Amino acid sequence: MAGLHQDIEKVLISEEEIREIIGRLGEQISHDYAGKNPLVVAVLRGAFVFTADLMRAITVPCAVDFMAVSSYGNGVKSSGVVRIVKDLDTEIAGRDVLIAEDILDSGLTLSYLVELLKGRGARSIKICAFAVKDIANHTAAVVPDYVGTHVPDEFIVGYGLDFAERYRNLPYVGVLKHEVYS
Ligand code: PRP
Repeated sequence: MAGLHQDIEKVLISEEEIREIIGRLGEQISHDYAGKNPLVVAVLRGAFVFTADLMRAITVPCAVDFMAVSSYGNGVKSSGVVRIVKDLDTEIAGRDVLIAEDILDSGLTLSYLVELLKGRGARSIKICAFAVKDIANHTAAVVPDYVGTHVPDEFIVGYGLDFAERYRNLPYVGVLKHEVYS
């Protein structure tokens, strides 16, 4: 791990802070979904680490499934259309769906997914984002129901977030040194 740590400018969300965030989200969700059996949908790849922690902090019965998406053409940020690379295996008609996302940036990925899953007849769809990027003069396309924390508009990695598929295994969220990606 030393090699990975060396590439980090500063720690933005420590392991201790992550534990606090997860505990708080788990409590809120367990309270709101009392008596229900939600399906937690993790949006791969980034959300797999967060989802694993979140599931273990939820105290009501719940199931998990996974979706992988990738952007079309010039990217989701410009088009807002995503391609389903791996679809759910679970029938969601009548289910309470909770989408777990590692980071919400433009929100275009999630706004697309929410519409898609609504069309399949989910009873309810809510979004739990571990981190929301704060971007000046910018409003995300969706508002998450549960927010772990806010992060500045910097190049962040760790806790599932990657740069060229690396750093996902860092146990904290950090800002990547400029020289690593420039
Ligand atoms: C990231 C993140 C979200 C999306 C957020 O995924 O995990 O899915 O971007 O961006 P948006 O709010 O602007 O749509 P990425 O495409 O990097 O894939 P990954 O999860 O496999 O790293």
